[in-house]
Amino acid sequence: MSEADMWWKYGVVYHILPQSFKDTNEDGIGDLEGIIQKLDYLSDLGIDAIWLSPVYQSPMIDAGYDISDYQSINPLYGDMNDFRRLLDRAHRKNIRVIMDLVLNHTSDRHPWFIESRASKDNPKRDWYIWQPPANKRKSPNNWKTNFGRAAWTLDPLTQERYYHSFFKEQPDLNWRNAEVKEKMFEMIRFWLEMGIDGFRLDVINLLFKHKKLKNNPVNYIFSNRKVYNRNRPAVYAFLKEFRLLMNRYPGKVSIGEIYAPPPGDTRLVAGFLGDGKDMLHLAFDFSLIFSRWSASSYYKIIRRYYKSLPPDGWPCFVISNHDLGRCVRRLMFSFHKYEKAKIIAVLMLTLKGVPFIYYGDETGMENVHISREQIQDAYGKMFYPFFKGRDRSRTPMQWDNGPHAGFSNVPPWLPVHPNYKTVNVESELEDAHSILNLYRHLIRLRKAYPALQGGDIHFIDKGKNGILSYIRSDKEINIRVILNFTNRKKSVKNPFLPGEQLLAASPDFIFGKKDGLLVLRPFEWIITIHPPK
Ligand code: GLC
Ligand code: CA
Repeated sequence: MSEADMWWKYGVVYHILPQSFKDTNEDGIGDLEGIIQKLDYLSDLGIDAIWLSPVYQSPMIDAGYDISDYQSINPLYGDMNDFRRLLDRAHRKNIRVIMDLVLNHTSDRHPWFIESRASKDNPKRDWYIWQPPANKRKSPNNWKTNFGRAAWTLDPLTQERYYHSFFKEQPDLNWRNAEVKEKMFEMIRFWLEMGIDGFRLDVINLLFKHKKLKNNPVNYIFSNRKVYNRNRPAVYAFLKEFRLLMNRYPGKVSIGEIYAPPPGDTRLVAGFLGDGKDMLHLAFDFSLIFSRWSASSYYKIIRRYYKSLPPDGWPCFVISNHDLGRCVRRLMFSFHKYEKAKIIAVLMLTLKGVPFIYYGDETGMENVHISREQIQDAYGKMFYPFFKGRDRSRTPMQWDNGPHAGFSNVPPWLPVHPNYKTVNVESELEDAHSILNLYRHLIRLRKAYPALQGGDIHFIDKGKNGILSYIRSDKEINIRVILNFTNRKKSVKNPFLPGEQLLAASPDFIFGKKDGLLVLRPFEWIITIHPPK
């Protein structure tokens, strides 16, 4: 791999939920044209790539993660011409485009499944996972969906059950069938040849299930450990093959969604990177999302992932997404949520690892309270009031303080957060101390200093006393980042005096206070630069 092909290692990725970014045709739903219109904003922000949640044809039972045609665009968002225009315009601005790749399941309206369910001897029967019932009432085994419901649905026509890891409208494909693989690889080549820059691989560790569909060990009455329907050896073999295909298109990236429930098994996650060159390019670690607010807990999580990586592996932490909520979420009831969101921004953009910014996080957008009538996510409808669904972090981007936050001229598909009058792009651009301007500065800093992109990391303060600090370095330079996670004044030993201040929480920050100690006020942070020792 040439250095230029490794752009993804050094870049910043911006995750867009197409339905909530910008609506241009007044139906209250974001669209591709909306993304095109906002490319200037994105390029000014300084990001290197966008990852689009699925934009394919879909009945939208699962926000587009239920695909009925992998090679056409959802008419809600536009058409293939719009997509090609988006790709072209983005590339002209040096923004790469990463697509969501959902291989585990299709929509039940996909022509493959329509055929498959038509009869037991249909040529596509074996493309999905069908089982004759032991008896009318009983499922073939005890596997549950990812939301804890029975994962087998009886199809009345043929009186057999099919398997689905998610909704019953999302039947799982049988990846042991050679034709399935062939068709999917053909589809992957279609997008790569069009010129897209990579894929985010949806629930990739679920792809293969145990051949004999063995029962999972039961943990307690309602749940079971997913031993035989995830992380199967065949997934690793598949990823090797997938990587060979990707390697034929230099400069493309693959990022795996491997969800390891808290506390988060990073060895498992990193295992999908193979030796660092022969499987996925990157794999998300979600553990920080579940961490309590503490410098030492953050330190331990970060260290753990670094340690789990293969020699050529590169890390990638997630702090917010469309499933698990926004990072301000956990800090919601605290007085210091924006200070904390800023610390997270500094951390993500100076750590070793690829930063993924979830749309709107750069403005400090928060989870939105969704009332029962407003729920769109079918999981919310299914489990209300115990689980209200995932809509809270899927709400419209807050662009300005006008009607519907400038997202649309008509009421949007999900409500806008009431804080949009102040938390929005336009107002924040004018405020030198806004979180948006902090993001902009940090991204510029990251661009200006390669040490912040590909450099080594060495921790100095490991969270004891509420301080996290580390040095990013390459041959030319050392950059030190010091973060005070607490609401108290802290003094930090500074072996690097003197140095030059690059960016700090407060403009009046005075670097190098008394007796070689650095005094940080509550939630204060500083980034300094030093010549190599
Ligand atoms: C992933 C997606 C989630 C979706 C699921 C099924 O976890 O992030 O939104 O519901 O896969 O495709
Ligand atoms: Ca629209």
